[in-house]
Amino acid sequence: MRVQMEQELVGLFTMAAMIEARDPFTVGHAWRVSRYSRLVAENSVQTEEVIAQVSIAGFLHDLGKVGISDAILMRPEHLIESEYEIVKTHSAVGARLLAGHPLAKMLSEAIRHHHEHFDGNGYPDGLSGQQIPLPARIVGVCDAFDAMTSSRPWRRAMPLEVALQVVEAGYGKQFDQDFAERLVRLARAGDLNHILGHSDIGVPVQECPKCGPTINVFRTHQAGDKVYCRLCASEFEVQRTPQGLQTIATGNRGCAAVAVPEPDGELISRLILDALGHLPN
Ligand SMILES: [Fe+2]
Repeated sequence: MRVQMEQELVGLFTMAAMIEARDPFTVGHAWRVSRYSRLVAENSVQTEEVIAQVSIAGFLHDLGKVGISDAILMRPEHLIESEYEIVKTHSAVGARLLAGHPLAKMLSEAIRHHHEHFDGNGYPDGLSGQQIPLPARIVGVCDAFDAMTSSRPWRRAMPLEVALQVVEAGYGKQFDQDFAERLVRLARAGDLNHILGHSDIGVPVQECPKCGPTINVFRTHQAGDKVYCRLCASEFEVQRTPQGLQTIATGNRGCAAVAVPEPDGELISRLILDALGHLPN
């Protein structure tokens, strides 16, 4: 059972990673949302099943973005209303993608409802309060928090304290107060510092000076490995430092092929094994 689930999840996680890679600015988003969600679930003493559910759905929540064109996906700041309506289909499309999948029952509610708001003003169904499935309430606040604390092409990441105040202002409005409060408390205690601004444990998000946070560094990279900006193909060399893996520009440039998305298979299998460890054999 476990082996079968693991194989089914590898396919879904790889697909989610490929979708995320279409937008180089979202590097690490799925990983961070998965890790934040798991910590919030653990902190609020949820069942092992919920911990596994949010760890997995946290990574897969934006699967439905596969149905949205790059042109719309990559510039949400200038969207006209009809385009924004298209972006908003991604949560329902993600759930629909899973229809008939053996893991649909476990995952599709969290994916479909991660943009519902506690006060009923979210989408796709305008659910409110406890009508919103519990895993979706956890993934929803973690997703919003990560969006605020990550840089986008048109804005820098909010300082942590500013983002926490926005989360606090959303208690009972956008967010389930209980889960949002737990997230804020974990953040203020420093318990999210290893996730915030990282794309894996020990891997701070690396910025290309020209393009932004667009260099993909994997935990399995060794000192001296060459990595590239996904937008301009500038070359960087990996260094190991006490703060984790860092990169420095070499001044060289790679060929076009370096921009091909490459899912991090080691990170994916580590996350899946961690989530499945919370489920009965
Ligand atoms: Fe989303």
